[in-house]
Amino acid sequence: MARVERVFSGVQPTGNLHLGNYLGAIVNFVKLQENHNCIYCVVDLHAITQPVSVWGGPTELARNIREVTAAFIASGIDPKKHIVFNQSQVSGHAELAWLLNCVARIGWLNRMTQFKEKAGKDRENASVGLYDYPVLMAADILLYRATHVPVGEDQKQHLELARDIAQKFNNDFGDSVRTHGFADGEFFPQPEPLITGPATRVMSLRDGTKKMSKSDSSDNSRINLTDDADTIAQKIRKAKTDPEPLPSEEKGLETRPEADNLVGIYAALAGRTKQDVLREFGGGQFSSFKNALAELCIAKLAPIATEMKRLTADPGHVDSILIEGASRAGALAEETMKAAKDIIGFVRKP
Ligand code: AMP
Ligand code: TRP
Repeated sequence: MARVERVFSGVQPTGNLHLGNYLGAIVNFVKLQENHNCIYCVVDLHAITQPVSVWGGPTELARNIREVTAAFIASGIDPKKHIVFNQSQVSGHAELAWLLNCVARIGWLNRMTQFKEKAGKDRENASVGLYDYPVLMAADILLYRATHVPVGEDQKQHLELARDIAQKFNNDFGDSVRTHGFADGEFFPQPEPLITGPATRVMSLRDGTKKMSKSDSSDNSRINLTDDADTIAQKIRKAKTDPEPLPSEEKGLETRPEADNLVGIYAALAGRTKQDVLREFGGGQFSSFKNALAELCIAKLAPIATEMKRLTADPGHVDSILIEGASRAGALAEETMKAAKDIIGFVRKP
């Protein structure tokens, strides 16, 4: 099996795609296309780990799968040169997750902070899938033997787990891995997280200490990728700030989470550093900075919203992209599954 540099990442179809998803993940997906083979997945099997009331039921799920796909394409992902598909169409994800369930340790999963946050106080009532979520995520990545995984800061711990699972599999089956053509004992490569740019953790516009999130009950806390120009401008105007003028040095942002967040968003959208943005706006009032930020946000996001609308108006076209992507992803997945089964020792049809 050839070793290639391969990028894999996923976004859940749970509605309200926002600026955090865009700057933390999708912008980097787009950039990586230049020099890598990329696989971008709408992770619908992950979406159903939450209660049905959260992901919205069958009609909503299908709508959201198409919407994330449209967001990928509207942002500049090329589904012909790279692969775009939804997870449930490639059975290898669930199948490899089972094999990896037997490699991952309960103690490892017990340390996952996202489970604790999402399960909340009533942990007994969380789905088994939510608990197992990080193993499915490891399977997503390892199914393609991906080497690079662009994600936002919140996924760092899950990536570390995926690395531990890969390593334990390689160790547990070391001799078999070597006799099956991997002389260096590395069947699964160690996936490297790519957490890059000035906005790896975009915060809520209403509270600079909380992550911008799809599930925040206040729509004003986030800028949705489907928001029109007026809505974007209004949300930025209303964004929480403090009474001080903007600092001229990045150090001055340290104790000012809201200011830090808005400057980070500006920097990420403009492709500049925070220091560079402060050189221009430092010492000035928030009102004029917010005007510039709103203008920049609208210039970057409004065309994406328009293109998403156009794409989702033709669900048949979006579905055909996903079906084609799934067929290409499925061929790669099948290779890995065959090798993984052989390494473990299952008897199979040649
Ligand atoms: P999710 O919506 O949870 O499927 O997340 C999809 C991608 O967006 C992941 O790579 C996340 O790390 C990233 N992401 C989600 N929320 C944020 C945020 N507030 N700031 C930066 N990245 C984020
Ligand atoms: N857990 C990721 C999130 O919520 C989504 C995801 C699922 C993912 N599988 C993945 C990201 C594999 C990167 C690689 O943001």
